Amino acid sequence: MRPFTVSMNLDNINFNGNHIVRRYEDIKSIFKSTDISLEGKNPVIYEVFESPVPEQQGHLIFLVTILYPGKVNEEFFMTKGHYHTVENTAEVYLGIKGKGLILCQTKSGDFEVAEISENRVVYIPPFWAHRAVNIFDEPLIFFGIYPAHAGHDYETIAQSGFVKRVFSKNGRVVIE
Ligand code: PA5
Ligand code: NI
Repeated sequence: MRPFTVSMNLDNINFNGNHIVRRYEDIKSIFKSTDISLEGKNPVIYEVFESPVPEQQGHLIFLVTILYPGKVNEEFFMTKGHYHTVENTAEVYLGIKGKGLILCQTKSGDFEVAEISENRVVYIPPFWAHRAVNIFDEPLIFFGIYPAHAGHDYETIAQSGFVKRVFSKNGRVVIE
């Protein structure tokens, strides 16, 4: 592989790699309850633009996630969240736009909430699952980098979830 560059122009982003689009119907099971008002609309909750880099040790995958504003009943839009399949791998997020929370937890029960916003860097150490939550009324956009061989373990989160959820209650952000 040869060195390459891509544009970070957010008006027309495309890193020439995977483009993952997750709509309400694809991921509704991650929310506490289903929301009839979203059933017909089936909005895009988030999309990810990945770099065209092989999933091999030594490489780094970089990406941009756009997590749209919205709620499923009172629960803020969020990503599925995952551990890395190769658990001993970290990740870095750089906030580009918007405001959100990165929920982090370990299999031994540790939990941490990190704020993400423009120009703020979040470091996710090895062994920590991570999920992004958009707590604002505009898209949450962040850049990320992780070891290309890390892989995504969604199954563990699908089975046991995150220990906390983030809701909007009376105009306040409530973590419970
Ligand atoms: O690798 C990451 O942590 C991110 O690129 C996420 O994959 C992205 O934000 C989407 O979240 P998830 O993979 O949990 O659906
Ligand atoms: Ni990750």
